[in-house]
Amino acid sequence: MNTNLSFAAPSEVETECLVAVVLDQGEKDKPAAAVDCGDAPVREAAQDAIASGEVTGKTFEATVLHRPAGLKAKRLLLLGGGKANIFSAAQLRKLAGAAVRTLKDKNIRSFAFALPESGLTAAEGVCSVVEGVFVGDFDPDYYKSDRKDQKIDNVTIVARGDQAALDQVLNAGRIVGESQNFTRDLVNEPSNRMTPSMMGERAKKMAAEVGLKCEIYGAAKIKELKMGAFWGVAQGSDEPPALIVLRYEPAGAAEKIHLGLVGKGVTFDTGGISIKPADGMEKMKYDMAGGATMIGVMRAIALLKPKVKVTAIVCATENMPSGKAQKPGDVQIAMSGKSIEIINTDAEGRLVLADGLCYARQLGCTHIVDAATLTGAVVVALGYVNAGIFASDDQMYDRFAKANQQAGEKMWRLPLDDEYKEIIKSNIADIVNSGGRYGGAISAAMFLKEFAEDTPWIHLDIAGTAWMEDAKPWIAKGPSGVALRSLVEFVRGWES
Ligand code: BES
Ligand code: MN
Ligand code: ZN
Repeated sequence: MNTNLSFAAPSEVETECLVAVVLDQGEKDKPAAAVDCGDAPVREAAQDAIASGEVTGKTFEATVLHRPAGLKAKRLLLLGGGKANIFSAAQLRKLAGAAVRTLKDKNIRSFAFALPESGLTAAEGVCSVVEGVFVGDFDPDYYKSDRKDQKIDNVTIVARGDQAALDQVLNAGRIVGESQNFTRDLVNEPSNRMTPSMMGERAKKMAAEVGLKCEIYGAAKIKELKMGAFWGVAQGSDEPPALIVLRYEPAGAAEKIHLGLVGKGVTFDTGGISIKPADGMEKMKYDMAGGATMIGVMRAIALLKPKVKVTAIVCATENMPSGKAQKPGDVQIAMSGKSIEIINTDAEGRLVLADGLCYARQLGCTHIVDAATLTGAVVVALGYVNAGIFASDDQMYDRFAKANQQAGEKMWRLPLDDEYKEIIKSNIADIVNSGGRYGGAISAAMFLKEFAEDTPWIHLDIAGTAWMEDAKPWIAKGPSGVALRSLVEFVRGWES
């Protein structure tokens, strides 16, 4: 997809379709739709449709007018943006995605988006639109033989402002959007086409393209590092595990900050000996979404080049039942030396992450974020809307929350009080790997905290948000790429 900026008046832009946002400026019970565009001919072209009551500005309402009078565009898409007083950059990002999906359906491959002018700066507008169009452009139809290649070819964002500054925003938004779709491609692959080794290969290929250091280690290194928790999961599978390490070490970065990104890369989670029910098990191909997110974040970082040192660690393995698999009751010694009683082999994510976190500390990371499809319990708590955030350090949380807000991704902080530690006490080892049903997302996070130790750390539980259960107007059903934008923004915030 080509993306470019135009500084012409929207009515002067020659395009297959000009998209303009219609907002409801009215009060309660008194709707008053108006096109949010500084260009009078665009407002006039929409006048009759608004006056007739057909166009109200309701969110995602889409009306196409052909040969709009006074416009050089062949069509005008009036896209409802909801109430004007609550319009936001996050809403604009969704509208851009919805514009793409509406037009793709109509076989229109090229369009121009007139930035709305109320409430947002031009930079916020350009950023939201470019990120939103990439989100909307993704479809998980790779394996369909009758797949229509419906990608959008060209998007022009019609803006006002400083061209050089907005060009930079556009370029950054493009990098982020493409990286998010890179992650979604990885997550979409079924487990027979995304084994731990293949995940490593994809990371390596990407790293070569963007100039990152990449190391892929196998069972020998995992054992040498004494990653007993990671190996405990990996030992049950015939597929070799992969410890994927990506390093971004820019010249001129501050010595004292080294960010660590740790991802759960379980390419298929059967539950192991504590096997999962058949119903819905196919979805456990996305149990590597946390790892795929970190690989995508590193791609974006390598291209955006912020001056801060970042290392990503992805612990990739299958979780399988077999004659070699670990069994409930087994005790594993983690890399940190802590002993873990395995109560439930389906609580495998925290095991691979325990050693990933420890390794990040050993490599000298001063701040660590992990992302994982860790618990069904976070879905019980927050549904499919918010990801769970856990933070051991309030300052680090504040930084992350700011980045998260800018990225327009929904996340909600959950607690890590010491009282919860009770639930993960073991009779025979230092800690158990499952705290049972109640507060399940929290006990999983408490478990990880034992391995982050005193390093400031954030854990993102994306089990409910990494996969869209249904299509939305702005995004296809399937992998969402959630957390990537927040993480990229978070990393950029450390630039020295
Ligand atoms: N991968 C699952 C969590 C999950 C659930 C991800 C739903 C995506 C959607 C994780 O490994 C798991 O099985 N967790 C168990 C933990 C339990 C055994 C303590 C769970 O949540 O049931
Ligand atoms: Mn599991
Ligand atoms: Zn899992």
